[in-house]
Amino acid sequence: MMGYGKFEVWALSVLCLALFSSGFDPIDNYLIDCGSTRNTSVGDRVFVSDNSASKFLSTPKEVLANTPLKSITSSDDSPLYQTARIFTESSKYTFPISQRGRHWIRLYFFPFVYASYDMSTAKFGVSTQNHVLLSDFGVDKASLKEFSVNVTSDSLVITFTPSSSSFAFLNAIEVVSVPDKLITDDADSVNPSENFQGLLTQALETVARVNMGGPTVSFENDTLWRTWVPDQSFLVNKNGAKNFSNIGAVKYSSGGATPDIAPKTVYGTATEMDSGDDPNSNFNVTWEFQVDLGFRYLVRFHFCDIVSKGLNMLYFNVYIDSWSVAHDLDLSTLSVNVLAVPHYMDRVTLPTVSDKLRVSIGPSNDVDGIYPNAILNGLEIMKMNNSIGSLSGSMVISSSSKKNVGVIVGVTIGVFVAVVLAVIFFLMCRKRRRMALQGHSKTWIPLSINGGNSHTVGSKYSNGTNASIASNYGYRFPFVAVQEATNNFDENWVIGIGGFGKVYKGALNDGTKVAVKRGNPRSQQGLAEFQTEIELLSQFRHRHLVSLIGYCDEKNEMILIYEYMENGTLKSHLYGSGLPSLGWKERLEICIGAARGLHYLHTGYAKAVIHRDVKSANILLDENLMAKVADFGLSKTGPEIDQTHVSTAVKGSFGYLDPEYFRRQQLTEKSDVYSFGVVLFEVLCARPVIDPTLPREMVNLAEWAMKWQKKGQLEQIIDSTLVGKIRPDSLRKFGETAEKCLADLGVDRPSVGDVLWNLEYALQLQDAVIQGEPEENSTNMIGELSPQINNVNNVDTAVSGFEMSSVDDLSGVSMSRVFSQLVKSEGR
Ligand SMILES: *[C@@H]1O[C@H](CO)[C@@H](O)[C@H](O)[C@H]1NC(C)=O
Ligand SMILES: *[C@@H]1O[C@H](CO)[C@@H](O)[C@H](O)[C@H]1NC(C)=O
Ligand SMILES: *[C@@H]1O[C@H](CO)[C@@H](O)[C@H](O)[C@H]1NC(C)=O
Ligand SMILES: *[C@@H]1O[C@H](CO)[C@@H](O)[C@H](O)[C@H]1NC(C)=O
Ligand SMILES: *[C@@H]1O[C@H](CO)[C@@H](O)[C@H](O)[C@H]1NC(C)=O
Ligand SMILES: *[C@@H]1O[C@H](CO)[C@@H](O)[C@H](O)[C@H]1NC(C)=O
Repeated sequence: MMGYGKFEVWALSVLCLALFSSGFDPIDNYLIDCGSTRNTSVGDRVFVSDNSASKFLSTPKEVLANTPLKSITSSDDSPLYQTARIFTESSKYTFPISQRGRHWIRLYFFPFVYASYDMSTAKFGVSTQNHVLLSDFGVDKASLKEFSVNVTSDSLVITFTPSSSSFAFLNAIEVVSVPDKLITDDADSVNPSENFQGLLTQALETVARVNMGGPTVSFENDTLWRTWVPDQSFLVNKNGAKNFSNIGAVKYSSGGATPDIAPKTVYGTATEMDSGDDPNSNFNVTWEFQVDLGFRYLVRFHFCDIVSKGLNMLYFNVYIDSWSVAHDLDLSTLSVNVLAVPHYMDRVTLPTVSDKLRVSIGPSNDVDGIYPNAILNGLEIMKMNNSIGSLSGSMVISSSSKKNVGVIVGVTIGVFVAVVLAVIFFLMCRKRRRMALQGHSKTWIPLSINGGNSHTVGSKYSNGTNASIASNYGYRFPFVAVQEATNNFDENWVIGIGGFGKVYKGALNDGTKVAVKRGNPRSQQGLAEFQTEIELLSQFRHRHLVSLIGYCDEKNEMILIYEYMENGTLKSHLYGSGLPSLGWKERLEICIGAARGLHYLHTGYAKAVIHRDVKSANILLDENLMAKVADFGLSKTGPEIDQTHVSTAVKGSFGYLDPEYFRRQQLTEKSDVYSFGVVLFEVLCARPVIDPTLPREMVNLAEWAMKWQKKGQLEQIIDSTLVGKIRPDSLRKFGETAEKCLADLGVDRPSVGDVLWNLEYALQLQDAVIQGEPEENSTNMIGELSPQINNVNNVDTAVSGFEMSSVDDLSGVSMSRVFSQLVKSEGR
């Protein structure tokens, strides 16, 4: 009996020990050693060989790479780094998911050279069904990228897409269930009045996971196989901080954190203030982390009071940047008067306006008789996906960050503007003088036949033609019809995720292919707004605008149904998707088409409609590669309206945003012209407009391209597939046009009408059919046109003399109007 009892106790304690040390048992647990023919043990886990895992992968071409052991240095000695898989074309892993919910995705990269593949030069994107994890990504050293996503379907598809003329690679991959309780739905935002909700659907990327005051905690000592790194390298001032360690003191207790939140080895060490025995010392201990601009971050603080000798002896403050996230924090009050109980605290930041994020702790001043101290035991910083579901690439700035950016940009631009203004003033004086000198040979007559300003001309036109369209606005679809068309919003039919919501492909009863945009359900007020937008949208019919077929507002839904565009986005044809690259004439024709669409938005209606988010991802191509502008649904009509809506969020995408718009927060058509100028350079160079992986001076395409354009050496940076294929004159005209679009002041930018002309001209220069070609030094066609205009009474004669290929395609904008604009913009 005794013996049996003893055995029982022994078995129980072994069981407890086993439970405790193995911790969480993941239901989904895929570990793959890519490119390897053997199973590889890493700690207590086995990464299976690529052969055994091949059923998960679909790739057009099998390239397995292995490296001789000697090329692996001691610091990068993971056995997973000895082999890799290379993807020359878009390839995907499909993992069946047994239990929906949050999963880790860990990607292991270790670049080495295999045959003709130098993996340190690889550039590629990685995405899941709902989120972009990496785009135009490259690595030059061993690197582990950790993401966590909430999988809401029965499979997780991870797609690797090489950037144009590059390839992708991967050394190992993990897809592992995360305990449900690890990330909860809400957290306080750093702005104290807000409570952030929606963390459950958020994709997260681990930016930092730090063990304060202690050594690296390796994945083998973490129940969820996480690695925690020491904080030394993040400390801003090492002198103000010291280590403290007492791992044995840590007591997990209900109401506090669990070992899954963070292990004892993390809670049992801390970095504390080093007051140097001065009872009056008062300073912060600060850590600084590199982050990406425009994203929100989830910051998780880990606390455990292992330093105090008794209760209520430590009061301190916690900050993220200059925001206070906890004031006079007394850890001993968080659990029923027990010291050394682990606790954690989540905070969501506002979208970042700087590429540094600082976390600080400092002593409380408000509590008398307490020795100044402050501690932090652990810290995790996780990047949150932006409103388009991406953890990478173009970023959307929301109104809340507008002010800060405004100030920073404002100050920088302010100085710049003063200089620019001075230069303009100088140039204008010079020009006046020159014009006065030339006065005898050149009379500057306004050509606006209709007279008045552009708005009155525009409204005359639209009253005449648009009325009939306006009266039959939109078709209202029953919700069931939309369900039917999209196979009940089949996740596999999702073709895109936009600011508005998801986009599904679909087919109507009669076989018409459609793109269905489903907005997140909104309040009554949102619906009213939605209806106004539809009314506006449905009035726009143009060959170069993606047209609205109908809408559905049943059940608080906000669904827009558009014509389907076979060839997807212009962006996908430029880079990142492996599609064949476009020729120069095709690109010019696409730019011309898009310019026509924008021109119509700006001038085809009584009030100019400003697109606000012109970018290559919003220019779609039909089956004949004809360009159509999309997503003008969120446009607001011209300046008049915008002034009454001062609170309107700054909308647009990083890299395309008009600097003047930031500064004055006033929207004009010229903001679209700026963005379109960036698109022009993007088309020419076939690279992302912001690429943080490039050397600093190359990150921003607009800046980089302008630098070469100003040097007159634009040909140095063009898409390699275009080298030797663009006629120098055509390239020069194109470069000059893009340059003018990027002028710092809106007034100095051409109208889209002017841009259109210049692009047509660049196309003709490529064809080189122009007879008696005028001298090509001028930066604007007006220089060549004006004399001719003055010599003929009929404007159209001058136009046909120039063989403008589709003058009538300006959609009713009379040529005289275009000319009057040209003349006006030049006459300023
Ligand atoms: C690797 O492990 C898997 C699953 O445990 C097993 O099915 C397979 O036979 C092993 N492969 C090799 C080469 O040992
Ligand atoms: C995943 O998201 C769904 C909502 O889409 C939510 O109901 C569920 O609780 C989430 N699961 C986890 C583990 O976050
Ligand atoms: C604190 O601990 C870290 C990690 O163990 C160590 O690198 C560092 O030198 C320690 N700092 C001090 C001041 O002891
Ligand atoms: C795990 O932590 C213990 C100390 O708690 C340490 O002795 C051991 O080396 C650690 N293991 C690894 C793999 O880091
Ligand atoms: C600590 O940092 C916060 C936030 O930047 C700041 O407001 C506070 O004044 C700092 N405290 C000390 C003592 O420097
Ligand atoms: C992150 O992406 C999801 C879509 O998967 C979206 O619902 C959510 O709003 C995005 N988060 C933010 C902060 O925009």
